[in-house]
Amino acid sequence: MLQKKITIAIDGFSACGKSTLAKDLAKKLNYIFVDSGAMYRGVALYCLENNLIVEGQPLIEKIIEHLNHIRLEFKTIDQQSLLFLNGKDVSTEIRENAVANVVSKVATIKEVRQKLVSEQQKMGEKGGIIMDGRDIASVVFPNAELKLFVTADTKIRTQRRLDELKSKGIESSFEEVEENLKERDYIDSTRAESPLIQVADAIVLDNSNLNREEQLAWVLEQIEKL
Ligand code: DC
Repeated sequence: MLQKKITIAIDGFSACGKSTLAKDLAKKLNYIFVDSGAMYRGVALYCLENNLIVEGQPLIEKIIEHLNHIRLEFKTIDQQSLLFLNGKDVSTEIRENAVANVVSKVATIKEVRQKLVSEQQKMGEKGGIIMDGRDIASVVFPNAELKLFVTADTKIRTQRRLDELKSKGIESSFEEVEENLKERDYIDSTRAESPLIQVADAIVLDNSNLNREEQLAWVLEQIEKL
């Protein structure tokens, strides 16, 4: 096993188990885990709460003016990583459909990305971090020692997200979740500002037919080879 604390960047489509993998790896390696998508969701929630989204469209200029009032912090409580927005725990609210439906649009705004990328880079200054998202290997940590690009079949991803929402008490239909995943994947991979891409030195993990333990074991094998 590695002596030095490295940086692990995990990118991929929506709901393909990136955060689950990142959490499992962080526990195993005793590293910091950061779900960067939660931060974009936190900004989207702030926008919804402050009427900065009208008929599903973000009011870009106004959102930029508000950016200095948006304070996001992760706190670990009872071994769970919770997201606080301006001092309030919003970990459950950011998973609601209302947020999922607008977050990709909010994440296209250059100034939003600049703010969050700079905060993410600060979190990773000392290494020993595992971050998952869409632009982690390409923009946030281009020098990460391990870059993973995670993918899985759309129907399998939909079922996993549906199960996750159910476990949080959030009701949704298969069709609604599938539609949302497809729309977000499209926006995330075609936007002008740091779109989701598979960088040249990324290792691809298709976990369609792997369970949680199997995917963890596979990644640990990759780490052994570094
Ligand atoms: O990982 P997630 O599904 O919770 O992310 C929510 C949205 O945030 C996703 O649709 C795109 C955006 N996002 C992003 O643009 N860049 C990241 N590093 C992480 C998420």
